[in-house]
Amino acid sequence: METIQPILWENGVLKLLDQRILPHSEDYISYQNCRDVADAITDMVVRGAPAIGITAAYGVALAVKKYTDVDVNRWQELIEDDLIYLSKARPTAINLNWAIDEMRKLFSQCNVLNPLPEVQALAIKIHQDDIDNNRIMGKLGADLIRESITGEIKPAVITHCNAGALATGGYGTALGVIRSAWEQGLISHVYADETRPWLQGARLTAWEMVKEEIPVSLLVDGAASHVIKTSQQTDAPIGWIIVGSDRIAANGDVANKIGTYGLAVNAKYHGLKVMVVAPTSTIDFKVASGNDIPIEERSNQEVLNFAGSKQSAKGALARNPAFDVTPAELVDAIVTEKGVVLKPTTDKMLNLK
Ligand code: MRU
Repeated sequence: METIQPILWENGVLKLLDQRILPHSEDYISYQNCRDVADAITDMVVRGAPAIGITAAYGVALAVKKYTDVDVNRWQELIEDDLIYLSKARPTAINLNWAIDEMRKLFSQCNVLNPLPEVQALAIKIHQDDIDNNRIMGKLGADLIRESITGEIKPAVITHCNAGALATGGYGTALGVIRSAWEQGLISHVYADETRPWLQGARLTAWEMVKEEIPVSLLVDGAASHVIKTSQQTDAPIGWIIVGSDRIAANGDVANKIGTYGLAVNAKYHGLKVMVVAPTSTIDFKVASGNDIPIEERSNQEVLNFAGSKQSAKGALARNPAFDVTPAELVDAIVTEKGVVLKPTTDKMLNLK
């Protein structure tokens, strides 16, 4: 049983740990309606690409329940508007549409007059598979860190946003690697960018690390390059940037939380390695390169305000792109449950198909 459970499915009810108020309160909100689930994704009650996918799978199960109750002979037709609404909850994380597609594939194969048991079972499987995959990736990523250690010195690592238990079914992708590496004594320290404007690093990653007594230091996002550079002269140099992803293109370009691209450029300049940890459900082979990945632009109020109160100069405008794309050439390793791709290219990525 995972210690941090962002998503619960109990007797046909979906319960989401409200990530907007962590770490101050640990409250679950219950959902019984697919459209409410979609709104919860848009509003960041649940966030992180794999967690969004799992939540969407349960959202589909709720919609199937609703429309089979309305008319068991027409549920496949009646459900359509809700599924379209759900599919638009957030645009960048491909896991959302991956999960809806997986659920849809079952519609044509299941017992159409009594689909609910099979539909619910598939959502639960998508959830459990995600946790199992994270354990596999945790080990593979930690192996890469071990192989990179030449002498006595254990590297420190930087992570950006939250790619932990909270962003997945449990255990985490990037934080899964960090958990596994810490357990094996392979890393000395974790730096977490605070990640403006939602503070996923300060609120969520730090909370996860502190809970497990993994030493973590927060950095304001702009401090990373200075800390990377100056750490190189110490006995705990930062050696790896380890992040998750919302969507990986067929050529290995990686969309992740805004600021990841800058970190990767920094890593190149200072000779650090960049590890992206994501399940294959995050790879979108339909997009050739990162140029084709839709980047979510959220409300400018999230930037103009801080902790709910206005801090910026009246009259100032703001942009709020939520993600950026790191070119494959800046990525040293993509770690998936099907294996590791070093220095990704379109040809190498095909091995994960
Ligand atoms: O806006 P968010 O909090 O949903 O962004 C999340 C990220 O950028 C994560 O790094 C990504 O989804 C991978 S989570 C395992």
